[in-house]
Amino acid sequence: MSGELSPIDKAKFVAAKRAVDFVEDGMRVGLGTGSTAAWMVRCLGELVREEGLKIKGVPTSTRTAQLARDCGIQVVSLDEAKWLDLTIDGADEFDGDLNLIKGGGGALLQEKIVATASDQMIVIADVGKEVERLGAFPLPIEVIPFGWQTTKTLVEEMLISMDVLGRDVTLRMNGERPFVTDEGNHILDLHLNRIGNARQMAMVLNQIPGVVENGLFIDICDIVVVGFGDGRVEVRDINEGTVEKDRLDFVENDNLFSDLME
Ligand code: A5P
Repeated sequence: MSGELSPIDKAKFVAAKRAVDFVEDGMRVGLGTGSTAAWMVRCLGELVREEGLKIKGVPTSTRTAQLARDCGIQVVSLDEAKWLDLTIDGADEFDGDLNLIKGGGGALLQEKIVATASDQMIVIADVGKEVERLGAFPLPIEVIPFGWQTTKTLVEEMLISMDVLGRDVTLRMNGERPFVTDEGNHILDLHLNRIGNARQMAMVLNQIPGVVENGLFIDICDIVVVGFGDGRVEVRDINEGTVEKDRLDFVENDNLFSDLME
């Protein structure tokens, strides 16, 4: 099965596989959302089933909660866990300071709450997510449905005074209808192309009434595990200032891939 993975999926898989090495018995672990995080959940599930790893997982979306349960991971709410040892999640972009854009999967609100409630956040990403400056990926913001068009106008007016290269704001759709998050909100995608000052953007966006949260994760991520299509991984630790290089082999394992074969 693993032989059928595309290079990008191999990159996501090896990043996820390397990141679960950070998980220890008894930990409360935040479980991210997205295709890369799904690999991590599968890898963790394998450790739980095969090696008796005991963890409590706090998922960042209903999708991840379902997958975690399917993989045999004990799922608890953030309120039950109260505080987490570690969160592992994907990202849409990361820069050299390990600041991120997240929310491509629409789960940025729970993702930011869970990551912020963790001693450590580890991001897992294929190397294609690395950027010099954030903003090529449209920046998602979660807005409440009430008056969302007014909120959109306020965001557009705010962008006039910001250091960005594009100012289009679009409502994310799910077919014919607006996309709805797990919290019942909508997502606006900000097509900025380049964000001159991400820290300022993150703060200003959250001042606009109707904006619940934005997808800029500033000073939240501690480590990025970067995966490459040939099995190489790099562990970049922003606090230690270290880069550790490694290479993982692909091992045929039908258990790990079972949900993909259904
Ligand atoms: C989910 O809302 C996002 O923040 C994801 O973590 C991000 O979009 C990365 O997703 P992939 O791993 O699928 O690229």
